[in-house]
Amino acid sequence: HAPVVVAIDGPSGSGKSTVSRAVAARLGLSFLDTGAMYRAMTWWMLSNDIDVDDAEAVAIACGKPVIVSGTDAAGPTITVDGQDVSGPIRGPEVTAKVSAVSAVPAVRARLVELQRGCAEVAPRGIVAEGRDMGTVVFPGATAKVFLTASGAARAARRAAELRAKGVDEATIAAMAADLDRRDAADSSRETAPLAQAPDAVLVDTSELTLDQVIDTVAALVEERA
Ligand code: C5P
Repeated sequence: HAPVVVAIDGPSGSGKSTVSRAVAARLGLSFLDTGAMYRAMTWWMLSNDIDVDDAEAVAIACGKPVIVSGTDAAGPTITVDGQDVSGPIRGPEVTAKVSAVSAVPAVRARLVELQRGCAEVAPRGIVAEGRDMGTVVFPGATAKVFLTASGAARAARRAAELRAKGVDEATIAAMAADLDRRDAADSSRETAPLAQAPDAVLVDTSELTLDQVIDTVAALVEERA
């Protein structure tokens, strides 16, 4: 009997991470944030002075870092060569460059293999979130969800989060523009672009509360598991 795999894809700010973690915790499944792996790879490239806009240099170097993702939904961890990078991978330097690094096929090949490995060792199954979970990494997933939200809803959520952290309005506007740029890059790249799998269920979260989205996704998984 194959283990449960829940594939959750969507653009930044669709609520993917929060929803995926909550669903994993509720159903007793492991959790995998694949965006964190692309961020960790990018962090390592920047820390080692690799020119991340040089796809060939990135492809040559990407086999080197040892990236380990903890898959505990209650507190996922990520390390590069043994160093915890959960903080630095969320910074603006990594965020600005992650789309360039994640567009390199050799990077994707390496991380996809690690992602499948995580699913194989998850004791009860896994909720994996990213951009290509349903289309490329887990084509045979138990359940596939594509989360979207209107541009306005995504921007408003992101702004509220940043405001709560005390971030000023100019920075909030700059980050909104960067988010649009990243989504456009992720959707238009050649290898594994952000896309809804034909058999994924589309959930538009614009008008739903977080609890409603979690209930919807959890119900779908229970129906199919
Ligand atoms: O999910 P998050 O915003 O942290 O992802 C950061 C970046 O990693 C995305 O903008 C995208 O370029 C890349 N990514 C990807 N494929 C995934 C997950 C993330 O290309 N499965």
